[in-house]
Amino acid sequence: MIEINNRYEVEFIDMTHDAMGVCKIDGFPVFVKHALKGEKATIKVNEISKKYGFGEIIQLQQSSPYRKDPICEHFYECGGCDLMHMSYDMQSLFKHYRTAITLKRLGKIDLEPEKMVGMTNPYYYRNKVVMPIGQDLTGKTTYGFYKKGTHIIEPMRKCLIIPKYTHDIIKFIVSFMNDHGIKAYSSNTKEGTIKHVVIRSSNKEDDISIVLISKIKPLPQLKTLADSITSKFDKVKTIVMNYHLEDTKSTYGEEFELVYGDGYIVDRSLDIGLRIHHQSFYQINPIQTDLLYKKALDLAELNKSLTAVDAYCGIGSLTLNIAKHVKNVYGIEVVKQAIEDAIDNAEENKIDNATFLLGKSENLLKTIEEPIDVIFIDPPRKGVDHKLLDTIIEKNIKKVIYISCNVATLARDLNILQAAGYDVLETTPFDMFPQTAHIESVTLLELK
Ligand SMILES: C[S@@+](CC[C@H](N)C(=O)[O-])C[C@H]1O[C@@H](n2cnc3c(N)ncnc32)[C@H](O)[C@@H]1O
Repeated sequence: MIEINNRYEVEFIDMTHDAMGVCKIDGFPVFVKHALKGEKATIKVNEISKKYGFGEIIQLQQSSPYRKDPICEHFYECGGCDLMHMSYDMQSLFKHYRTAITLKRLGKIDLEPEKMVGMTNPYYYRNKVVMPIGQDLTGKTTYGFYKKGTHIIEPMRKCLIIPKYTHDIIKFIVSFMNDHGIKAYSSNTKEGTIKHVVIRSSNKEDDISIVLISKIKPLPQLKTLADSITSKFDKVKTIVMNYHLEDTKSTYGEEFELVYGDGYIVDRSLDIGLRIHHQSFYQINPIQTDLLYKKALDLAELNKSLTAVDAYCGIGSLTLNIAKHVKNVYGIEVVKQAIEDAIDNAEENKIDNATFLLGKSENLLKTIEEPIDVIFIDPPRKGVDHKLLDTIIEKNIKKVIYISCNVATLARDLNILQAAGYDVLETTPFDMFPQTAHIESVTLLELK
């Protein structure tokens, strides 16, 4: 019988959605971090529950040809990336396999996904970073990632998925804080000021916004800090303070104060110029987003006689690209700032056939009186509200293009649509988040 702290010789026969190797000890499944399918190892079992256990590799006996040394020195401690121990080829195969198996197991959908659309350079792609600021063991202000299970910040020397320019700005802010005696906030002592810095950059990294999140108001030497940042980094177009006075889990507190610029950056997505405020959702990998949107538009086979809906539309980046090809399009979004950006973006791009509705898609889709030919849905990770699926079915919308960032909720929702008479015709995984286990995809459904 399997026992905790014992060592076992195992072979990994599968991999979980979060990239753990799966082995069986006397038929009992054990999950092991950083183990690859096909590998053999000596493992130690650390935890056992009723149905499965967790272990760690003690010694690799036979390694996979797809294994590679992680190029980031923080990989094993940071937790921001999950797949750096796999070659990029294997990352692609892994995501393709996870898409197929999840659709089949959770959605009862028998469909071979298309080949994953990967990146030529799968590094430095994140256009947004939320960086924790804290103190190291000597009390110096530092930035980095939280040590597992603690509030202690492990200083970060390098990050291979955020642009170098973004990293330079963070370094500069932290060194300014050290030079000017501005302490980072410590959740242990409840003293200090800045908790996080949020940096967002445009596709070409020529427009950058910074949000400084502070535990106290006002932040001392704010004006000097802002002046120093903007004189050193001319691409910084706006700086915003956020006062997060309570100890809550959300990144932002209630109050924002504009310190420099207009509060937004500008960017382009396919044919559309965009204005993006710091609170609005914006896809984090611009290169892959353009490919994903192109695919979604192609699958929809739009023409000027059609009416479309873009539920969960954010700042209208996809909606306004749809508008160019249809008679009318409606965008629905629950965040006020994002809808305001979407309306401004329509005006800036001289688009007059897009209507933006503020509220929940599950409540507003049914209020659209015009017959709808095609609906695009791009929900958050928790997937689509059942009420929205019911309305799609009641309205007999012929074509559904489902963009998803969570293949498990995608499978659940596709299963409901399939049971209501939709054919799931094609699904393509996109590598929006290289080096991590997250899978983005676009799926085409048609009413039979
Ligand atoms: C994954 S993002 C997609 C945004 C946009 N399609 C894009 O490509 O940038 C999901 C968006 O849905 C919004 N949202 C979340 N729940 C919603 C709901 N029930 N109804 C409408 N929008 C919602 C979020 O604020 C966010 O902007």
